[in-house]
Amino acid sequence: MTADVLDRIIQKLTFLGPLGDTVHKWLGRLLAGDSPTALAKEFLNGSWLGHPLHPALTDVPIGAWMGASLLDVADGGRGGGIGRGADIMVAVGCAGGVAAVVSGLADWQDNYGKEREMGAAHGLINTGALALYSTSLALRIKGARGPAIGLSLLGLGAVLTGAYIGGDMVFRLGSQVNRNAFSEGPSKWSAAAEEDEVVEGAFVHKQVGHNQVLLTRLGGEICAVSAICSHAGGPLDELPIEDGQLHCPWHGSRFDLRTGQVIHGPATAAIPVFETRTREGKVEIRRP
Ligand code: FES
Repeated sequence: MTADVLDRIIQKLTFLGPLGDTVHKWLGRLLAGDSPTALAKEFLNGSWLGHPLHPALTDVPIGAWMGASLLDVADGGRGGGIGRGADIMVAVGCAGGVAAVVSGLADWQDNYGKEREMGAAHGLINTGALALYSTSLALRIKGARGPAIGLSLLGLGAVLTGAYIGGDMVFRLGSQVNRNAFSEGPSKWSAAAEEDEVVEGAFVHKQVGHNQVLLTRLGGEICAVSAICSHAGGPLDELPIEDGQLHCPWHGSRFDLRTGQVIHGPATAAIPVFETRTREGKVEIRRP
């Protein structure tokens, strides 16, 4: 399926936009402030892991359900030991599928525009796959193997379609990709600002080579970091520094100004930090 075909299909599903907006509003209320659900969202985003959690969790249902289909074929629908192995794989996939849906919702909540629509399609298809496999599991327990295997195959088709759309979101739209992934250098000391324009409590925003850099002082020490939030590219110079931390205005991620490490999600990747020195009245920076 080419990107064009996928885009045309998504455009025809005109209900996706309004549906996505409604669920987004509802989730926004549920996840507001410092509520336990907001903390759960940060956990599900994967900030603690340094990597989005959702793509890792999706491997569980895809792998388990695919394994179940292979075992079903090997069992030939007889319901012997191999067939029971397939049943267990379906159950494992359903448990992993619930975790994948919940973590996917946590990531999707921070999407907008086309990513939100594509994410709604991805989520709907995968939730449909989970429903098909859950029904298949119930039928397997009752001993109705024929219909159960049929539903599993339908579910497998759905989950692979959903996986394709999820991959398209990442590799074509850049959803969940570290926005500083391609920023490199400068490897040599490079002039970034006049020494006296870098002051405590304010940012100087400079372009140095291919990098957008923020310079400021913290306790007199000159700090230089990327101006771009790793989560979705938010501007890190719009909100004041608090407790030595940068705050992203878009989804609330916080980063340590000295180390660039994530203090608070949804960001999972640290932002680049530059070494600094002063020479002849100029602040110079380089990547460690
Ligand atoms: S862009 Fe999402 S937290 Fe910065």
